[in-house]
Amino acid sequence: MRQKMLLLISVMIVLSMFMAACGNSGSEKPATTGDPAPTAQEPEKKEETKAPEGKKSVEIFSWWTGAGEEAGLLGLIDLFNQKHPDIEVINAAVAGGAGTNAKAVLASRMQGGDPPGTFQVHGGAELNTGWVAAGKMEGLNDLFESEGWMDKFPKDLIDMVSDGGTIYSVPVNIHRGNVIFYNKKIFDDNGLTPPTSFEEFVTVADALKAKGITPLALGDKEPWTATMVFENVLLGVLGPEDYKKLFTGEIAFDDAKVKDSLEKTKKMFSYINDDHAARNWQDASQLVANGQAAMNIMGDWAKGYFTTDLKLQPNVDFGWIATPNTANSFMVITDTFGLPKGVKDPDTVKEWLKVLGSVEGQDVFNPLKGSIPARVDADASKYDVYGQSTIEDFKKSSLAASLAHGSAASEGFLTQANQVMTIFVTNGDVEQAAKSLRDAQVSSGMAQ
Ligand code: GAL
Repeated sequence: MRQKMLLLISVMIVLSMFMAACGNSGSEKPATTGDPAPTAQEPEKKEETKAPEGKKSVEIFSWWTGAGEEAGLLGLIDLFNQKHPDIEVINAAVAGGAGTNAKAVLASRMQGGDPPGTFQVHGGAELNTGWVAAGKMEGLNDLFESEGWMDKFPKDLIDMVSDGGTIYSVPVNIHRGNVIFYNKKIFDDNGLTPPTSFEEFVTVADALKAKGITPLALGDKEPWTATMVFENVLLGVLGPEDYKKLFTGEIAFDDAKVKDSLEKTKKMFSYINDDHAARNWQDASQLVANGQAAMNIMGDWAKGYFTTDLKLQPNVDFGWIATPNTANSFMVITDTFGLPKGVKDPDTVKEWLKVLGSVEGQDVFNPLKGSIPARVDADASKYDVYGQSTIEDFKKSSLAASLAHGSAASEGFLTQANQVMTIFVTNGDVEQAAKSLRDAQVSSGMAQ
């Protein structure tokens, strides 16, 4: 019922989204200066090429356009074209970080009985309480069996894309969400050590501020980036076990530990760039790349942006460290693709899924995207020092599901949490934020 209402609301907002998406053909690349690029955040519906009459085609729906986002997808499409010259790939990507615009377009298409061949969806709640619960997805156990995949993906990841024993999508990657990327030169020149705790963060940030350097870059033109800072603070304060309990309702969102997390988040927000609301995530990461800010809390698609697009060297131009108190935890964001019910040619879609689930496919996609492979048997030598250390971290960390990227809670709760964070960045009202989050926890059915 909740899902139906959500879909209905999505359909209502989608028309305006869709018109905005169609009406803008500006470049997605941020400017090379530190100024926010005026067109970088605008929604953009990519040109869709129609397959010639009679030729098979597969339509791939995602939000991977522009800097830091699309190189991996294009690499995967190239590989697919080599293997299947007879199948046309239709790249139906809709710009907007974390699916800000794409999710609404997708909802409208799914509701209207016009599903794309396959679409980007996060493992966890976004898939399971969303499209699976709505009865819109085909099971893929046969594909996993026939491709020999059952023991090639970590069990935790298979669980994130399964419901009641049925597997519903194929993970292409694992992104880590609890990372501080920092400008190495700024830290070295100022004799600073990257912070591991909240106390150290404040000490380092104060030292940077005293030197006139912006300590923390934020680009919350799309509010999910602020939600990411908050979820990482929650993880650091509560630890991975209690963090999970927020989403099972065992811990209330107005609990003292949540309020403490909000206080700490507020403190961190006191160190951000003034123009944060005008920037998207690339524009904020760029401040660190350019030496205009020292740190950025972002998923490691920022690492893909640094190395693939900006040609920066890991451990030379930029460094990384887990967000305060989360060194032993891994905030998981897995991008997956499934098979919607009612597509014209499911076998062709499965050919695409086979390529993105193969070792070869994962090792083409992930080094460009900044993520690590979802498969346990990928070739680690294809990854740089960041990728290799993240592959190791994943094996020994406690896993946590990202709220900001739809894995921890329903889309309904996430929408409200993003609204709360938008207000909180500006007014810093801890009591109000905790109350609104608790209300959302109750109204979205997540409270016990
Ligand atoms: C996430 C997605 C990543 C990356 C990021 C920024 O939701 O999982 O692959 O695209 O958004 O748009």
